[in-house]
Amino acid sequence: MTDLLEVDDLSPESLRRVLDRAAALKAETTGDELPRRTLTMLFEKPSTRTRTSFETGMTQLGGHAVFLGPDDVGLGGREPVRDIARSLAGYADAIMVRLFDHADAETVADHVDVPVINGLTDRAHPCQALADLLTLREVFGGDPATVAWVGDGNNVARSFAVGAAMLGHEVRAATPPAYGLGEDALSRAAGQAGSVTTVDDPAAAVSDADAVYTDVWVSMGEEDERETKLAAFEDGGYQVNEALLSNAPGARVLHCLPAHRGEEITDAVVESERSLVWQQAENRLHAQKGLLVELL
Ligand code: CP
Ligand code: NVA
Repeated sequence: MTDLLEVDDLSPESLRRVLDRAAALKAETTGDELPRRTLTMLFEKPSTRTRTSFETGMTQLGGHAVFLGPDDVGLGGREPVRDIARSLAGYADAIMVRLFDHADAETVADHVDVPVINGLTDRAHPCQALADLLTLREVFGGDPATVAWVGDGNNVARSFAVGAAMLGHEVRAATPPAYGLGEDALSRAAGQAGSVTTVDDPAAAVSDADAVYTDVWVSMGEEDERETKLAAFEDGGYQVNEALLSNAPGARVLHCLPAHRGEEITDAVVESERSLVWQQAENRLHAQKGLLVELL
């Protein structure tokens, strides 16, 4: 593997190796892992966790990260994506991109020889999936878990569902009909050790699940659809709240953050004993360090 644009750019074996490496680095990082290596990070959208965890991770491994935000590069405006990519590859040992259009991430990968890591596009968020899978492993000890995805079948949902299926987990996705995971993600998950099934009723998806995962109803770049999407999710009862979770009394709760309390999840659930959200957020650091060392 040279790039991570989608979680299944990794084989199940290399996904496990990344997580093993992540766990080892979480226990001990010497700073000699990636001496003087540079990760260049190209952001078209805002970020709290992705930027900070990659930048901190590179520092801890003995390397360095360069941040380029929307005002620095002017992706596609000041110069074409392929020209930016080829210029950056002359300085960087790896490039991380957070872009609106997944096709732009593919363009970057097509034009450089250094590894390209997807730090979120409209289609996928594989680095989030790595952190989520590391979190499941820590909480459930590597045993297959049943995880209900409740809400939008978005970038985070697709990467998580495919990655979880690769490791043998059972994912039940409850989404409004117009906002499902999509055929592509479902067919990629279908050949894996675990399973991804779609369920109409959020309560049925959650029933006796080990964990319940949700994400915002309106992702970055979808602001124009806000009213339509909110109506679909509110009317369908997709909010992760105590009433929904009464169908799975022991279930832990996952959210990639940022959370919109009062929309897809309640404040009480985010702050409850069930919540794994801070462990997930911290695990972005460890999972990506594992990935960087494996790639570089
Ligand atoms: N979960 C996640 O990617 O967070 P940021 O958008 O803050 O990077
Ligand atoms: N689905 C969200 C995830 C943010 C980390 C978005 O794309 O905005």
